[in-house]
Amino acid sequence: MTQKIRVAVLYGGKSGEHEVSLQSAASVLRYLDRERFDVIPVSIDKTGLWQLNDLKTLEQTAGKALPILRDAAEVRLASQPDGRGSLIPVSGNAAPVRDIDVFFPVIHGPLCEDGATQGLLDLADVAYVGSGVLASAVSMDKDIAKRLAAYAGLPIAPYVALMRRDYERDAARCIETARQKLTLPVFVKPCNMGSSVGVHKVKSWDALKAALDDAFRYDLKILIEQGIDAREVEVAVLEDDPLFVSVASEINPDPRHEFYSYEAKYLDKDGASVDLPARIDEAAMARVRALAAQAFTVLECNGLARVDFFLDRKSGEFYFNEINTLPGFTSISMYPKMMEASGVPYGELLTRLVNLALGRHRQRHSLVRDYSN
Ligand SMILES: Nc1ncnc2c1ncn2[C@@H]1O[C@H](COP(=O)(O)OP(=O)(O)O)[C@@H](O)[C@H]1O
Ligand SMILES: [Mg+2]
Repeated sequence: MTQKIRVAVLYGGKSGEHEVSLQSAASVLRYLDRERFDVIPVSIDKTGLWQLNDLKTLEQTAGKALPILRDAAEVRLASQPDGRGSLIPVSGNAAPVRDIDVFFPVIHGPLCEDGATQGLLDLADVAYVGSGVLASAVSMDKDIAKRLAAYAGLPIAPYVALMRRDYERDAARCIETARQKLTLPVFVKPCNMGSSVGVHKVKSWDALKAALDDAFRYDLKILIEQGIDAREVEVAVLEDDPLFVSVASEINPDPRHEFYSYEAKYLDKDGASVDLPARIDEAAMARVRALAAQAFTVLECNGLARVDFFLDRKSGEFYFNEINTLPGFTSISMYPKMMEASGVPYGELLTRLVNLALGRHRQRHSLVRDYSN
């Protein structure tokens, strides 16, 4: 029998989406093919500490969310000359785990999905699932992602990006710039957050300042964006040649919510309904899938991404809104559901992602890094 591929699943994470990750990771652990993979669960707590968790104990106790075990040993990541990774206990007498073939970050949000963790994994020269540092970082920054998308010809909603230092220097002038360029309603959002944290729908210019003050609590850069009377359509993309693009789905926030807010996403169990596939005509379906593939390519993503669009109810035009390089991954999350509806079941999806990670690492590893002799 060929040796199993050793996969370290990273879960938790030092971000506001820690709890979502615990749920995503419970599904990943359940569906990773044990015939092929030897699974090592590695939690990252809210302070950033990496800990080695015991798979057997987790499998006995895990419900919908993966716990971080109380007595899990703190570990640090180390590289091996053969391009694999090790997890070395920082203290105590737990044994190190060596020969890890691939890391699977099932973590979301800033520091997890924005290139920071990816950079750490690159420094250790190990294989990992998903996008590298560049695509992770530019995709997390809503301003830079939109600029690159627009540069490639993808339609985006008009917006103004504001730095906190400029706002602190002259708030009135910043507000005036937005008033000149945009019409009400506008959306104010932190540039690097997710889950609608700090997002405000602003219906009067008098209300703009309070929304900006709040959004600047979360980020040093924010967007004021043209509000669009829109349907929200999402597409899942999986790396392949050519790219594998799912059917699109539509999220319908319940009318009790002004938009797809944090409450609608997480607190209200009837906050939104989903149409999978989206109820759009064939031409619109083809258009949005092509735009999703284009966004994935333009931003140089690897592995997977969920691409979110607004469909303008009036013009019928799609606007690129954002791209998520490590989207929610519970078995009922949109990314796996869209893949499943398009013919790629959850377990197979995980296997393909691991294989893509190994392939990319092999290619990077074969590059000449030293031409002194
Ligand atoms: N320009 C806009 N027009 C209409 N609705 C918007 C706009 N921007 C954001 N929204 C609403 O706010 C939600 C969250 O905004 P989004 O940019 O997707 O940030 P997040 O990364 O937090 O999901 C969207 O799903 C949508 O409901
Ligand atoms: Mg969103």
